[in-house]
Amino acid sequence: MLYPQEILEEVRMQNDIVDVISEYLPLKQKGTSYFGLCPFHNEKTPSFSVNSERQFYYCFGCGAAGNVYTFVMQMENDTFPEAVRRLADRANITLPEPQYTQQAKEQEQQRQRLFLLHKQAGRFFYEKLQESVGEEARTYLQKRQMHLNIQKKFGIGYAPKGQNELYQHLQKKGFSQEELQKSGLFLEKKGTKGYFDRFHHRLMFPIFDIQGRVIGFGGRILSSGEPKYLNSPETLLFNKSKNLYGLNFAKNTRKREIILVEGYMDMISLYQAGFKNVAASLGTAFNQEHAKVLKKYADSVILLYDSDDAGTMAAQRAIPILVQNGFHVKVLQVPNGKDPDEFIKQHGAKAFSHLLANALHYVMFQIQCLKQPYDFTQTQQKVEFTTKAANILAKLDNDIERNVYIAEVSHMTNIPQQAIESEIVKNIKKEEMTFIQDAQQQRKTQYSKNKKEIIKSAGILSAQKDILYLCASNIQVYHKIKTILSAEDFLEPIYQKIYEKIELLYQKSDTVFPAEMINYFELPEEQKKVTEIFAVVLHYNSIKDMEKALTEEVKTVKKASLDQLAAQAQSIEQVKKLVAEKRNVDSLYITIADG
Ligand code: CTP
Ligand code: MN
Repeated sequence: MLYPQEILEEVRMQNDIVDVISEYLPLKQKGTSYFGLCPFHNEKTPSFSVNSERQFYYCFGCGAAGNVYTFVMQMENDTFPEAVRRLADRANITLPEPQYTQQAKEQEQQRQRLFLLHKQAGRFFYEKLQESVGEEARTYLQKRQMHLNIQKKFGIGYAPKGQNELYQHLQKKGFSQEELQKSGLFLEKKGTKGYFDRFHHRLMFPIFDIQGRVIGFGGRILSSGEPKYLNSPETLLFNKSKNLYGLNFAKNTRKREIILVEGYMDMISLYQAGFKNVAASLGTAFNQEHAKVLKKYADSVILLYDSDDAGTMAAQRAIPILVQNGFHVKVLQVPNGKDPDEFIKQHGAKAFSHLLANALHYVMFQIQCLKQPYDFTQTQQKVEFTTKAANILAKLDNDIERNVYIAEVSHMTNIPQQAIESEIVKNIKKEEMTFIQDAQQQRKTQYSKNKKEIIKSAGILSAQKDILYLCASNIQVYHKIKTILSAEDFLEPIYQKIYEKIELLYQKSDTVFPAEMINYFELPEEQKKVTEIFAVVLHYNSIKDMEKALTEEVKTVKKASLDQLAAQAQSIEQVKKLVAEKRNVDSLYITIADG
């Protein structure tokens, strides 16, 4: 934990969950609970509830659950510490310096050294470009019309031909063998203890993180040859599946619309031409992690990949990822198979901005891709195309949008809109049916496969949850249970941790507040599991009933725990002892009322 519990609790209390969630979606009050449409799954009737008294939310539809931190983490794609800082800001609370563990401190120091190393390496390449060895690279840049101020802004450099010039340079600057090795900029010489520079005689593009620090390099060959680009490997600093090249510059435009291109040169060309809201995925396929990063800075994306088959395929793969993550998506392809860089160099910024204004809604792009192989003079082919197009349109949620594209398809094919519409309705129904059938089928097979096992483990699971719920709701119950169950008796690590935290919280006061408990968990999945325990209120008609239920549940859990120990036992004596203990459990009866 970076911040002490008291601070986490203070920040949480100063951010009423109903107020915070209301800033994201409208809520309607019903008693102490508030309801709204769940932001984490698609729904038409509200099943998302916010409990104002207990300060947590729970969705009866998709099971999303947590406290105010969980909510912000999920809505903003924040890590736990980021959510803490965001909410502290919101409540005008000044946070203390974060407390790092020794291990985290060391890792942070290593990262800082690697940042410094990369900065120095970038400087080295930049200087080489200006020296006489950099002449060929300078000519190359001129040929590609990259202006001097842009070269400087992007830190473009040149890696010289020598074997290990950079290695020696950085060694002189005081970097250790280990640091140099971890930077990914060097390759070990086989059979010796020496190192080669990874990059030779290449044009160098520093790769930046979102704060503009150099975290790696891409090197382009100056003539033709393979590989055209060589990139830094994954390191402590550089994570390819998260990094978007140039996003550090693009974010400053505050446009919330990003043009996504494939390569270094496309990104820089657009930027140079004045289209500064541009970033590149650098040849790696656009993935969920990219989407999460991008979501912080943009709501719409214009996909501007190469117009060749590979680029078209890459765009088609990126679309569902972007749509799932809530982006408005448009697609643009420059004509005649050119890439964006070539187009701008040939036709200029004005022509490009025309193209941009005419980017296609992604659905239209999908329909146009679909249309390619069909010959509309053949009725049969036209029908087949339209049937498939209806399939695409069925995925659109927005009715207005859908109507627009129905009209387009109708126009393309001369098939009446109504016919297309009814095909879409059929598709939607079919999709819902298969979804339900699949889910049922899955449940059936799972259930019959090991019915007994499942019933048993479901029983142990819910017993653990109920015990934790009751322990947290009543200090007397907790004191009683403590004499029978230790943390290790809970089979799931997360329940062990919750049980330990109950003890901790009772040391502070005689109530356990669920939303406070959640603070101890940093991952949304964990927070969800904690909330699940408290989201369902257990009701008993009398204390006797509660004792009876509790007794059964404690027996279930204790026996399961003893079974597990027996399975791991090393000797017959141990097994015998455990069996005896298990027999004792049978005679257990828990009473709360008379202490
Ligand atoms: N790429 C790579 N390794 C390669 C080829 C490509 O990492 N061997 C990445 C680079 O980030 C490159 C992007 O994929 O920028 C797109 O590749 P490509 O379209 O081939 O390159 P361009 O950006 O058009 O490069 P240039 O204009 O310099 O030829
Ligand atoms: Mn290119």
